Amino acid sequence: MSVQLVRPRVIALDGPSAAGKGTLARRLASHYDLAHLDTGSLYRAVGRRILRDGRDPKDATYAAGVAANLQPVDLKDPELRSEATSQAASIVAAIPAVRANLLAWQREFAKAPPDGKQGVVLDGRDIGTVICPDADVKLFVTASPEARAERRFQELQAAGANPIRRAVLDEMASRDRRDSERATAPLLPADGAFVLDTSDLDADAVFDRVVAFIESKTRPRRA
Ligand code: CDP
Repeated sequence: MSVQLVRPRVIALDGPSAAGKGTLARRLASHYDLAHLDTGSLYRAVGRRILRDGRDPKDATYAAGVAANLQPVDLKDPELRSEATSQAASIVAAIPAVRANLLAWQREFAKAPPDGKQGVVLDGRDIGTVICPDADVKLFVTASPEARAERRFQELQAAGANPIRRAVLDEMASRDRRDSERATAPLLPADGAFVLDTSDLDADAVFDRVVAFIESKTRPRRA
């Protein structure tokens, strides 16, 4: 008699900036052999192209047009992770037509994962609430603003930048506010989500707790 790994089909992973979603999503994808989509990169790509075109990210018509015509090459822009792009991303993310134009793309990824994978991990802000409300696992990872700002500060330093602690905290707070207060798909834990505060946990501890939760939910079958 052997215990089989029961692989979730769709893992929805939401949470605010620098709560540890990216690392956790990549580890879950590798552990369960799932495809991974960082949905923030779609909003970043829209924001970045608007800045490159010299347009205003608040221009809803222009932003919706960019979202409708996003190209794979836009997801490879080296400026995708810059602070200017982060702010533009959260501005365009509050525009309902932008969200609507990115929705089908994300659902299609979940329905038909690339590379022959049998399931997906999507990370973002509204995966469990809007994009994949039927996901078999819903996770919401969060951490204190101070812990998240410190992580982002370390990340920027490691990438060779010269960040200012206060500015990192302020920029994160303004993005948090925009993401949580917008009328369309605000950042919220989905009903039934496993909520984990990662302020005092390292990446291994977060991964272990989440896997324990998933195993308890999917209950390994005995063969
Ligand atoms: O990497 P970080 O967690 O800082 O941000 P991200 O996940 O790359 O997302 C960038 C921005 O895109 C967020 O601040 C949100 O405004 C927006 N976003 C969203 O609205 N919905 C998603 N599913 C993913 C990102």
